[in-house]
Amino acid sequence: MQRRTLLRAAIALGAIPAIGFAKTSQPVIEVYKTPTCGCCTDWLDHLRANGFKVNAHNVQDTAPYRAKFGVPASFGSCHTGMVGGYALEGHVPASDIKRLLAEKPKAAGLAVPGMPMGSPGMEVPGQPADAYDVLLFQANGKYKVYRHYAAK
Ligand code: CU
Ligand code: CU
Repeated sequence: MQRRTLLRAAIALGAIPAIGFAKTSQPVIEVYKTPTCGCCTDWLDHLRANGFKVNAHNVQDTAPYRAKFGVPASFGSCHTGMVGGYALEGHVPASDIKRLLAEKPKAAGLAVPGMPMGSPGMEVPGQPADAYDVLLFQANGKYKVYRHYAAK
């Protein structure tokens, strides 16, 4: 038997996963949130719907985690997370997390300060979406706009 035939046979038997069929797996996101936060849960649903595995941890106060992950206090939101060595603060869209993990910029993480209306997990039917920025920040507090979302 030729090598190629062998390989095909192995794929057919399931011994080797066919690359084209393998689901693109995203790394696990560790999230720290308070137990009663509804918009946090909605953000977790948004991440899961976009292929992320999420480990949610209920904590009484998220501020110590922000401090630990190097998130500037002024960027604070309702939850804080960690993925692939990057901090995630607030309602960061899954698409921007995927871009972050693909581009791997030299940065401490992404933040959506506050809780902008219309960001993932903050959608309220009938309510217009606010304009907001996803910030790419450094450990020293410097940041730039990673993506701007227009009001709707
Ligand atoms: Cu929130
Ligand atoms: Cu939250």
